[in-house]
Amino acid sequence: MPAIKTTNPLVVHTQNELHVLEHKHPIAAVFTMGALHEGHARLMDEARTYADHSGNKAGTVIVTVFVNPTQFNDPDDFANYPNTLDSDFEVCAKSDVDVLFVPQVSEIYPDEKVLAERISAGSLGNILEGAARPGHFDAVLTVVYRLIQITKPDVLFFGEKDFQQLVLVRQMVKALDLPVVVIGVPTVRDINGLALSSRNKKLTVASLKVASRLYQALTLAQQGISEGKAPADIEVECVAYLQAIAEIELDYFEILNEDLQTPKPNEKLRALVAARIGGVRLIDNISLNR
Ligand code: PAJ
Repeated sequence: MPAIKTTNPLVVHTQNELHVLEHKHPIAAVFTMGALHEGHARLMDEARTYADHSGNKAGTVIVTVFVNPTQFNDPDDFANYPNTLDSDFEVCAKSDVDVLFVPQVSEIYPDEKVLAERISAGSLGNILEGAARPGHFDAVLTVVYRLIQITKPDVLFFGEKDFQQLVLVRQMVKALDLPVVVIGVPTVRDINGLALSSRNKKLTVASLKVASRLYQALTLAQQGISEGKAPADIEVECVAYLQAIAEIELDYFEILNEDLQTPKPNEKLRALVAARIGGVRLIDNISLNR
C-alpha cells in the first residue's frame, strides 16, 4: 500500500483512491466547501494536534473540499461559490494535512444512494437558519453522513461559527450511533470581531465595517447577562441595537440554551444572530457566561 505523504496533502478525487491508501489511526477529518481561510485552518490545526497526540503514533488528517449543491437554497449562490483549489491546497499544506479529498458530485451522490440515504434534521432543522433556508440542514446532514461513510474518521472537527450545524451533526451522530467523536472549535474572528467566512469576500469595505456590529451586538448580550438582566430583555435590547443601523437587515437575534431550546434558569446560554448586510447573509453566535 502506498504510504501517505506528510509534507503536502495528497490530493484524491475518488473513494477508490482514498481507500487504497493506508490511513493511520486516529483519522481526524475536517469537512469543508473550500474557499479556505483562517477559520478552516484552525479546524485543521486542531485535527493535526489530535491526530498526533491522542495515540502513541501519528494519525491521519483528511480534509474534504466539496461544494455540496443540495444545501444551497439560492442557485446563484451555488453557481457563484468561490473555487480556490490552488490556495486551498496551500492552506492544507501549511496545516500539515495528509489527504485532501476533492470529490465530484457523482462520487458523493451515486444514483442508488440519493433516495436511500437522506437524513432528516427534524424540528431543530426548521428554526433559525432552517427557517430561512428550507431543507438546508437535511442536505447538510445528508452530505456529512456520506462524507463520514467515505472518509471513516475517528474524530470530526466542526466550527462553532455554524453552531446550529454543529448541534445537528452531534444529534445525528448520537441518533444513528455513528462511531465518530465530534469536536466543536471556537470561532476565528478578524480584528474587529467579525467571524471569518468565505462570504466576507463579497462585502465592500464599508459593509465589512458594518458587519462587525453583529459581534458588537453579541458582546452587548454578554454585558447584559453579566449585569444580571433576563435573556428576553437582552434580546429586545440587541434587536433594537441592530435595527437602528440602516445597513443591517436583521433576520433574528435569539438567546437559547446550548441545545437551541428556550433556556431554563441557570442553563448555559448562547446568543445567535443572522442578518443581511450589503446583500450578503451573515451569521454569528457566542456562548454567554453568567
Ligand atoms: P464551510 O462553510 O466550508 O465550513 C467548513 C467548516 O469550517 C465548518 O465546520 C464551519 O463551521 C467551519 N468554519 C467556518 N468559518 C469558521 C470560523 N470563522 N471559525 C471557525 N470555524 C469556521 O460548513 C460547511 O462548509 C458545510 O455545510 C459542510 C459541513 C462542509 C457540509 O457541506
